[in-house]
Amino acid sequence: MNRFEGKVAAVTGGGSGIGAAICRRLADEGALVAVLDLSVERAQGIADELPRAAAIGVDVSDSGSVEDALTRVEAELGPLAIMVNNAGALAMSHVARVNPLIEQQRAEQAVGQITTPLEALARLTDDEWRLVMSVHLDGTFYGTRAAVRRMAERRAGAIVNMASVCGIEGCTGHPHYSAAKAGVLGFTRATAKEVIVQGIRVNAIAPGFIDTTRTKDQVGVARSVNVARTPIGRLGTPEEIAATVAFLVSDDAAFFVGATISPNGGLLTAV
Ligand code: NAI
Repeated sequence: MNRFEGKVAAVTGGGSGIGAAICRRLADEGALVAVLDLSVERAQGIADELPRAAAIGVDVSDSGSVEDALTRVEAELGPLAIMVNNAGALAMSHVARVNPLIEQQRAEQAVGQITTPLEALARLTDDEWRLVMSVHLDGTFYGTRAAVRRMAERRAGAIVNMASVCGIEGCTGHPHYSAAKAGVLGFTRATAKEVIVQGIRVNAIAPGFIDTTRTKDQVGVARSVNVARTPIGRLGTPEEIAATVAFLVSDDAAFFVGATISPNGGLLTAV
């Protein structure tokens, strides 16, 4: 299929994991892809794989950096038609503190009673909160605003924002990430209703547990617990999320406005 032949797509966090799979999928269907990432090296590595692509450094938590990046995208590739706000970051200090306690709670749960407090919220620092909010929520705002500013002139465009099941259900031990992703969903719904009259469709994806570097780094128990919690009995693949993006930005999804699609293997079904 060549659904995106000649269209320009920008993907934040395109240098690894789900973002890299999205870049490959959109390019496979004919798009000219701008791989946007904090790590220019990673972005370049993916862009080098693709036929017509550009690697551009960006910090999505900085509005000026996002505006500059999209100006470069249009100068190097042409008018922006597809924007995917996918970049993500975790506060690693928080992960290192909380993950062992989550493991301990799971072990306790298996024998009947949880006694260890996580204190994920009580010990969450201002910096950890800000980092996660700035990359996920501020980044989605800056990316969407910058894309809409350009697409509105042409009265055409499709934007996809990467949320998470944590933004729907709330994930134990991750209040900042859950808040940011819930914010992404609210932001998507409001902006979608506003900009559809300008010919721009905005939608969100809320993946379940996906097999990326992030989850590969998890110790065995966490990984097998995530698999066990997922009715389909496996983690999702980045390619499955990329296929969902390709659908949402295609004309097949012309009636999807402000929707949340959750590829999650049955983890949450009432979305
Ligand atoms: P990843 O860690 O493999 O890739 C994230 C990319 O974002 C990296 O290349 C990183 O350099 C880039 N990045 C980080 N901070 C940035 C910044 N300030 N500006 C620009 N780029 C930045 O992550 P993964 O797993 O591929 O996740 C992608 C998205 O999917 C994230 O928004 C994540 O929250 C979401 N997600 C992931 C799930 C999973 O199980 N892996 C599940 C649900 C949602």
